[in-house]
Amino acid sequence: MTSVDLTPEERDAELTVDRLKQLVGLVDYDQSTDPFPVTAMDAVVFVSGNATQSAHYYQHAFGMTLVGYSGPETGNRDHKAFVLRSGSARFVIVGAVDPASPYADHHRRHGDGVVDLALEVPDVDRCIEHARRQGADVLEEPHDVSDEFGTVRRAAIATYGETRHTLIDRSRYEGVYLPGFVERTSRMTRPEKRLFQAVDHCVGNVELGRMDEWVDFYNRVMGFVNMAEFVGDDIATEYSALMSKVVANGNHRVKFPLNEPALGKKRSQIDEYLDFYGDSGCQHIAIATNDILRSVDEMIARGVEFLSTPDSYYDDAELRARIGEVRVPVEQLKARGILVDRDEDGYLLQIFTRPVGDRPTVFFELIERHGSLGFGKGNFKALFEAIEREQDARGNL
Ligand SMILES: [Fe+2]
Repeated sequence: MTSVDLTPEERDAELTVDRLKQLVGLVDYDQSTDPFPVTAMDAVVFVSGNATQSAHYYQHAFGMTLVGYSGPETGNRDHKAFVLRSGSARFVIVGAVDPASPYADHHRRHGDGVVDLALEVPDVDRCIEHARRQGADVLEEPHDVSDEFGTVRRAAIATYGETRHTLIDRSRYEGVYLPGFVERTSRMTRPEKRLFQAVDHCVGNVELGRMDEWVDFYNRVMGFVNMAEFVGDDIATEYSALMSKVVANGNHRVKFPLNEPALGKKRSQIDEYLDFYGDSGCQHIAIATNDILRSVDEMIARGVEFLSTPDSYYDDAELRARIGEVRVPVEQLKARGILVDRDEDGYLLQIFTRPVGDRPTVFFELIERHGSLGFGKGNFKALFEAIEREQDARGNL
């Protein structure tokens, strides 16, 4: 086992290896035997129907910092792209300017959503060579992109739906994001402290019967390992069911749960997602915080809407016994609707937003880990019942 190094983004955000072990479950691993070494998430790239306003939303409501921009003023006549940071997390919000832009088409088909889960890798060519041998669909061959700040080597492979993994080696690059982007800041007032430090996991929804295919894709093509497995009854409510498996890269910085609908009495939330996204796609992004109470309070004050949790969840004696002692009184969690789950390694606190766009598709999770490397399996039922109440209100259950 070799120890993991901090990424430049993490160093920049003044994170430490110990804090990352707590925040996102980072583990030591030996990269030399990995056929497709991945260091970390590089960026989550969102397509938006109005990137100019979405960039404002993520700054205001999520407390992110605007750091970079590309658009007509910088010679990019196709689209605008805003680069936002919070801790080691990087979001890029893209919106079409040219009516003929492929992003305009993408948005018409899928609405607001995630187009790219970009990964930072130490050796783009080695990853692509392995991926190609394993039959991956290579969307972009390895190539260099340079400007006065250095050179980025990049390539891309396809994953579920119209989602891609761009692979980026930025070790020889000093610029703000990628060549073509300029530094950009804003004067918007932000919360005193950042509201999240890192991306914890990104969940994909795939069609019925295809989850195992995608698990196999991540195992075989990208060398990811299986983490936890939830099947059938684990996550069935009275009406709907789903199956979920989780794959992770060697150091566990990158974790991708994959869901597929299972047959239930009514239409599952995964079916609703697939209908409205029009394809497989990214369902939610979990962002890691070390103070979920403060983050939730601040985000609510800034207009973010979270799913509500019924009081009965907190009054359930079985749940209280199972979760045991957590760092704050249960009443404080109840006041905010924060969920708790415990497993053999520790516990976690989590809460989910409502979908952030017009379609009932992409949403966010806030997660505060205390030893647990799970995903809130014990909360799936309560969560899904909360989602179903909203699904019913939308007329989609
Ligand atoms: Fe999650």
